[in-house]
Amino acid sequence: MNVIPYGHQSIGEEEIAAVVEVLRSDFLTQGPVVERFEEEFARVVGAPHAVACSSGTAALHLAALAAGLGPGDRVLVPAVTFVASANAGRFVGADVAFADIDGDDLTLSPAAAEAVLEKARRDGRPFRALVTVDLAGHPCDMAAFGRLADAHGLIWIADACHALGATWTGPASGQGKAGPIPTAAERGRGRPRGGSAAAASICGVGDGDGRRQGGGAAAASPLAGPEESPPDPAGRTNAGADSLTRTWRVGEWPRPDFTVFSFHPVKHITTAEGGMVTTHDPRRAARLRRLRTHGIVRDPDRFVFREEAFDRDGQVNPWYYEVQALGYNYRLTDLQSALGLVQLRRLPEFLARRRTIVDRYRRELAGQPGVRFPAVRSGCVPAWHLAIVRIDYAGLGTTRGQVMRRLRERGVGTQVHYLPLPMMPFYAGSALMTNLPRSLGYYREALSLPLFPGMSDADVTRVLEALHEVLG
Ligand SMILES: Cc1ncc(COP(=O)(O)O)c(C=O)c1O
Repeated sequence: MNVIPYGHQSIGEEEIAAVVEVLRSDFLTQGPVVERFEEEFARVVGAPHAVACSSGTAALHLAALAAGLGPGDRVLVPAVTFVASANAGRFVGADVAFADIDGDDLTLSPAAAEAVLEKARRDGRPFRALVTVDLAGHPCDMAAFGRLADAHGLIWIADACHALGATWTGPASGQGKAGPIPTAAERGRGRPRGGSAAAASICGVGDGDGRRQGGGAAAASPLAGPEESPPDPAGRTNAGADSLTRTWRVGEWPRPDFTVFSFHPVKHITTAEGGMVTTHDPRRAARLRRLRTHGIVRDPDRFVFREEAFDRDGQVNPWYYEVQALGYNYRLTDLQSALGLVQLRRLPEFLARRRTIVDRYRRELAGQPGVRFPAVRSGCVPAWHLAIVRIDYAGLGTTRGQVMRRLRERGVGTQVHYLPLPMMPFYAGSALMTNLPRSLGYYREALSLPLFPGMSDADVTRVLEALHEVLG
């Protein structure tokens, strides 16, 4: 019997033709299609800048690098997420700590995060950055994290790898565009509130109600090229509009410093491997692009060693480029971008089908004893990446292993998203699970049912019948 997997890509003839067209062209890697994909993606999510890269993991790493995170910094991450959300901090030498999730919608709990942040501040070891995760495609409480990030002067990396196409309702104002990222020296490492006036202003703290403020000194980041001059302060204040609300696409609200997406085959759209970082700040976009390609700079205006760069007549030497930072080869290829462009056009169709399937699971399992679904927060329209159910295995006199095996015998693949990261040997000791009761409680009950656009109605019926049979 064929097994319905928990996730699967949906590739059609149009995608195949688009990839073949690139194969017949002059460019396989960094040609014109990558840029087209970036532009189209930026338009779809409503962010001014999108930087394509080789995976969601690379996207997170680039965001952490471009944020200037490093040794001595602390990064707060939800306990329930894919390991890459936490690894991003570790890649750059920062310390990672975990906070509990919300028991209803399963995204990071603002109250739990605040408790950890406040305690760290009292202990004199404040956090520098926050990673939120839109688990299963449900947006986290963006407005609450915007306030928290402001109050604690945090870099905010929004891991939206599950949430391409989701929307949420929140403050109508952008709460200020992203300001320059303070350097270690400026923020005085672990001094987001008590630092100099300039540092406080740059961090967006100190105005009492969490609204970000403009102004502040230039931030000469260690990674910064000449384009990292301060933005126009006039563009960053945004008073008076906080009482109004509006609907935002994930990636559209300017408050997170970076928003990260993944194009792994089980995600909403795929490029095989692939990822994207969006930002509202052109200087950060430039920094991301540079870090994505070995730290290489080709813009003559930015060359540092000008004698080597220019000929006697002032013309730029044709071979010349400069490596100005420790960068990576995290590029997405034209082949992958061609695939991504077609997939992006099909995103509305994919999202609709995912929502229809989840609606059906919710409707037809509503009366099933021992089964419940995560809540959907008011104002949110999730982009379901995972169809998570919570099953009271013990109450039903069974175990998860037994349920998964019996479902598989009936042709239904399932998975668990996720083991809380502090339960992983690599992260064990970073946090005691006793501090994470909702993460642990959720994990004990979690199960992800098959969900992908190519599932037929008959497939969904098979999953439902198998579950009814196995759970009794
Ligand atoms: C929440 C989350 N963040 C990051 C990633 C990393 O993405 P990728 O697999 O494209 O590297 C994933 C991938 O599954 C994920 O689920």
